[in-house]
Amino acid sequence: MISITRRYPFSASHRLHIPALSEEQNMELFGKCANPYGHGHNFAVEVTVRGELNPRTGRVIDLTAMDHLVDASLIQPMNRRDLNRDIPEFSGELVPTTENLISVMLARLQSVWPENFPQLQRVRIYETRKNTFEISNL
Ligand code: NI
Repeated sequence: MISITRRYPFSASHRLHIPALSEEQNMELFGKCANPYGHGHNFAVEVTVRGELNPRTGRVIDLTAMDHLVDASLIQPMNRRDLNRDIPEFSGELVPTTENLISVMLARLQSVWPENFPQLQRVRIYETRKNTFEISNL
């Protein structure tokens, strides 16, 4: 089995806050991330697949097909967007933390993942130089 990881940069803004709480409570919970006007990140998402080598093609996956899938389900809808306002999953109670974002991304990929693709193994988000988030699909 061979694992392949592909990286997709995107930029987005978010604001971490719970509408039912006061400004003070939100500041206490989320600090400067609760700033009313939000803030942006230059994110990168990495998608890892794992599968058998096809001996005829010498490949594990058609990367162009994978790019189209990731682009349509994650990058186009989220790049240069406000995650709080533009992403339906965050229109209700779900706070657009990067932990929740990575869960949303995995769920989106799972819902469109073709049967003939190798296994979706892992999603990773680089949020800042200091923060990396990872979710496993095992
Ligand atoms: Ni942030």
